[in-house]
Amino acid sequence: MKILAIESSCDETSVAVVENGTKIHANVVASSQAMYQKYGGILPEVASREQQKAIIPVLEEALAQAFGHHDTSPFETIKSEIDAIAVAVGPGLIGSLLMGVEAAKTIAIMTEKPILPVNHVLAHMYANFLEDPDSRQVPIRFPAISLVVSGGHTELFLMKNEKTLLWLGGTIDDAAGEAFDKTARLLGFGSGGGVSIQEAAKLHTGTSELQKKLPRPLLHDGTFNFSFSGLKTAVLREWNKEKNHSEEYIRAFAHEIQEAICDVLVAKTKTAAQTHGVSSILLSGGVSANLRLRKSMKSMVDADLPGCTLHIPRVIFCTDNAAYIGSYAFFRAQPVPVKTLDALPDLSPEVTE
Ligand code: KG4
Ligand code: ZN
Repeated sequence: MKILAIESSCDETSVAVVENGTKIHANVVASSQAMYQKYGGILPEVASREQQKAIIPVLEEALAQAFGHHDTSPFETIKSEIDAIAVAVGPGLIGSLLMGVEAAKTIAIMTEKPILPVNHVLAHMYANFLEDPDSRQVPIRFPAISLVVSGGHTELFLMKNEKTLLWLGGTIDDAAGEAFDKTARLLGFGSGGGVSIQEAAKLHTGTSELQKKLPRPLLHDGTFNFSFSGLKTAVLREWNKEKNHSEEYIRAFAHEIQEAICDVLVAKTKTAAQTHGVSSILLSGGVSANLRLRKSMKSMVDADLPGCTLHIPRVIFCTDNAAYIGSYAFFRAQPVPVKTLDALPDLSPEVTE
């Protein structure tokens, strides 16, 4: 079954063609992120306008990647090659989501294909089901614990099988990605905060007075909830105490921020895995691109979860793209009447089945 998938929930416009939830025939991503560098954050109005410009070229490029260049219209290609249309309906920015949703509706009507609504947060974890032609992948075994860490979400799930999910807990305030982005701004980095913190932290060597200075929120509270808003306040307090914000100090600070966030994410994932006696751990979402998190999670699994396998998408599939939307749709989405399809900016990840 070949699915044409569309993703436009934040600043990306992406279209993919995915077969049977695993094989990627095309995955094209256009991002307007670079435009927000001087503002320190995304401008929703600008993002949706850029998506309006990008959606048709991205769709054409994805179809060309998957099926070669055709003289026929995109609708003809979709009609003959594609079995269903999937689209991320939420959560996300309303103006951005509407771009993808309305495009998907038009395509579905014109081609008479079924339409599959997708929850963007849940879909992130299906990046782990995508085939990697360059490496031998270990199969995912169930039950599994799935941690989704993105710009807007930090959520833990028990995955009973490919289709059945139980939400265990999530952030009660800021998400992990948000914590990276907000603290990066305090340290004077522009937008794209997580990567800036990672790169600065890499350059930090030895110990510093900042080590273990920042809180590890809710580390031992016995729940699967997260809270990262206090981290931002603590960063500001420490920052204001120091008069000399040297390059070395900033690197040490970035390192400690990254350690604090990773410590919490790894510890909660470990407890969830032990509580539910799982066979695999799945990591996904933009923050799972973080090299320190990938390494810490691996060390924890090797040391504390014998027999458990760890699955992390290739870095390009951690951040937003339509390939995992197509994978999720295959495993989990149900078709709906086109007329009822709507953008749902506040769609919850709290699934129970
Ligand atoms: O999943 P994603 O692309 O978009 C959302 O659904 O939110 O995640 C974006 C988030 C941003 O907060 C960004 O700073 C973070 O992922 N991120 C990283 C890294 N790459 C992206 N955080 C830490 N380290 C990274 N290497
Ligand atoms: Zn995302």
